[in-house]
Amino acid sequence: MDKFVVRGNTALDGSLTVSGSKNTALPLMAATLLAEGPSTITNVPDLRDVRTFSKVIRYGGPSVTVDPDAHTLSVDATTLETPVAPYEMVKKMRASFYMLGALLGRCGRAKVSLPGGCAWGPRPVDLHIKGMRAFGADIELDEGYVHASTPDGGLEGGTFRLDPVSVGATINLLLAAVTARGGSKIENAATEPDVVAFGRALQEMGAQIDGLGTRTLEVQGVDRLNTGTFRNTPDRIELGTFILMAATASEPGTPIRIHEGTHEHLGPVFKQKLAQTGADVSYGDDIVTVTRPDQLRPVSIETAPFPGFATDLQAQWTVLLGTTDGTATVTDTIYDDRFKHVPELQRLGMKIEVDGNTATVHGGAPLKGAKAMSTDLRAGVSLVMAGMIAEGRTDVLRVYHLDRGYEALEQKLRDAGISIHREEYDEFAEPDLETAT
Ligand code: EPZ
Repeated sequence: MDKFVVRGNTALDGSLTVSGSKNTALPLMAATLLAEGPSTITNVPDLRDVRTFSKVIRYGGPSVTVDPDAHTLSVDATTLETPVAPYEMVKKMRASFYMLGALLGRCGRAKVSLPGGCAWGPRPVDLHIKGMRAFGADIELDEGYVHASTPDGGLEGGTFRLDPVSVGATINLLLAAVTARGGSKIENAATEPDVVAFGRALQEMGAQIDGLGTRTLEVQGVDRLNTGTFRNTPDRIELGTFILMAATASEPGTPIRIHEGTHEHLGPVFKQKLAQTGADVSYGDDIVTVTRPDQLRPVSIETAPFPGFATDLQAQWTVLLGTTDGTATVTDTIYDDRFKHVPELQRLGMKIEVDGNTATVHGGAPLKGAKAMSTDLRAGVSLVMAGMIAEGRTDVLRVYHLDRGYEALEQKLRDAGISIHREEYDEFAEPDLETAT
């Protein structure tokens, strides 16, 4: 197993580059299954989740060719004779559940494992299932699997309202609706840039979708979709992560340049909150420049569906609050207990109290390096961020979480002046009590 060893004695300096989006690449991969033939996606990040999903797709029959150096991925979905997504694969990555919509949309039937929970609690798929039923699918749950089928001739289509707003359910329902026999309507749909980019790719394939980027999507089913070549968007969460790293770990007054992100995908709330901290940020076409002030101000945030503040950036924001000269809160309205990073950050000296879905952060506590455990990829990256500004050495354990969603993170940070390297370790080795301090 790997860990990152981070030393906080050097400032972030120079520039960082954003890779392709994990959360857009995955639905784009699912969309290619709707066309009988070869499709290609460019700007695909070299991530564990992309490799995992490639295996899920290959299991059904299509071929998947990944070129990590060229950042391209090709899927030839000419044949798809096994509409199944097995537990052993789906349990590794929740987004594999997109196979339900893709297989229903392509084959009219599917056997897909329920995803199970994740690091920060239950993440149900009831909206996905209720929505598919509303569109005319027959769905039985048996032995941990969703068994879905459609009347002869495929899904009829229908109307379904999402409550709460759900990125995954919006994507899954679109995958099923675009080849339905009739029309469909998704109300209270997600408007995340990942969903919009995915919907635009479906339109390029010939899907009839109105309302992308709004809360109401209207779909007119078509008989078949065409293959194509699609460019993946830049990763908006990696962009936000790098911006917050630049605002906290660079020398005050030294501009840090972040290349190849799409700043509009951060949403207006994140930008407003960041400006209120006193960070000096300029947004260019494919470059965001961040200059850290002498002192950041505490600013409370509350996560919400896009265009609100992204829940995937709340752990990173928590670390920023630790460097301010006051107290502020982080409230996650999307997930109840996405605060597994807090006890780990407390090991580095951060002063945080959690009450329900709100964390109160008291800035100004000096951080000292320590061993800390990643529990999910955004919690993990917040530990790296804290290690970059802590005195001494921080070992961020279980880096496989980070490898799911951050491409070559240690290389990118090392190239920007940070002392960080990857080391192998045996998590189950008997502790050497002589050296354990
Ligand atoms: C997507 O997950 C992202 N993953 C998550 O990013 C992100 O945190 C989340 O959206 C919210 O923005 C991918 O895109 C692969 P949801 P998803 O369905 O689709 C509830 C990362 O770090 N809900 O929008 O699973 C759910 O419990 C990952 O990259 C139901 O109740 O999230 C949550 O409270 C972590 N029933 C809320 O909706 C359902 O059937 C939003 O979840 C589905 C969801």
